[in-house]
Amino acid sequence: MTSPIRLRGLVIAPPLFLAPMAGLTHSALRRLILELGGVGLLSTEMLSAARLPSENPQLSPYLVRTPQETPLSYQLLLSRLEEVAPALAKLHTLGAEAVDLNLGCPAPTVRRMGAGSRLMEEPATVQALVAEARKQTDLPLTAKIRLGETLDEERLRNFCLMLEGEGIELLSVHARLRGEPFVRKPRWPWVGKVKGWLTIPVIANGGIFSLEDARNCLAQSGADGLMLGRAAAIKPWLFAELAHGLYGLGPGVGEVDKPALYLRFIELLEESFLPERRLGRLKEFSHYFAINYPFGHHLASAIQSSSSLIQARERACSFFAKN
Ligand SMILES: Cc1cc2nc3c(=O)[nH]c(=O)nc-3n(C[C@H](O)[C@H](O)[C@H](O)COP(=O)(O)O)c2cc1C
Repeated sequence: MTSPIRLRGLVIAPPLFLAPMAGLTHSALRRLILELGGVGLLSTEMLSAARLPSENPQLSPYLVRTPQETPLSYQLLLSRLEEVAPALAKLHTLGAEAVDLNLGCPAPTVRRMGAGSRLMEEPATVQALVAEARKQTDLPLTAKIRLGETLDEERLRNFCLMLEGEGIELLSVHARLRGEPFVRKPRWPWVGKVKGWLTIPVIANGGIFSLEDARNCLAQSGADGLMLGRAAAIKPWLFAELAHGLYGLGPGVGEVDKPALYLRFIELLEESFLPERRLGRLKEFSHYFAINYPFGHHLASAIQSSSSLIQARERACSFFAKN
């Protein structure tokens, strides 16, 4: 058992977080996960703070949201001080329940904008951005980082203490250095170091794909909670499995009907998005979901080469019939 995490009025119980993931953590995946249970805090994908104010929340696939998707944290990708106030004003109109700052994205396009992981090299800029964000919102304010450019304990410690000092109320740590690929084992003990320096809750992220991984990660990090990224698309039921296995909450997960779950995801895509927005998101999801099958690459490539959602559904059904 664990106590829930409380941030201002927001109660996060169980302390299991959906990671922000571009192209994946949209309304349809969030609803699929909610139907399976066990998630404590949902997330959007990263949202450009510069573009956010002009996005139409009814049409933008990044902002579409149903009332049941709660609590929902919105992640901002930002680099300039003047972006902060308009972006937060927009999030207030959208009913955001928390705001997360992306300080970890290693994508070159993002770094060239001076955003994501590039910001971890500019502590003074981050300090000003966080101070401004703290001034502009009363919502819980969180941040997500990687471990930095190199393993530099003092630099990382100073950075994390600065974040806490400026009013960040929860920190998610993707336990890899900026340049480390996903195949590299995450450095969970480093999340424990961060936890030791701070008084705010620290959430461990990276490489959690099973209950056993979750237990190992908690043992190695002492983190206050866990954040699931790719596993949320591979096994959307893993939140329910962890809620039960780690915290004794909910009935757990029995036999999972994967084909039914996949078809439900297609239905949710149809409910959530305009027709031209659906297939790309199914392709993205299928890339991960296919990992559940020994011959999953056949499913992934069949969906990848589909030219319509109807064709993709037919191909998926014929794959499931044979597997
Ligand atoms: C397709 C994809 C998109 C991602 N997009 C974001 C994002 O928008 N913001 C962010 O902070 N991290 C993003 N990440 C990183 C994840 O949030 C997470 O830190 C990373 O996948 C490690 O966790 P995992 O091993 O559980 O997947 C993304 C990762 C993937 C695979």
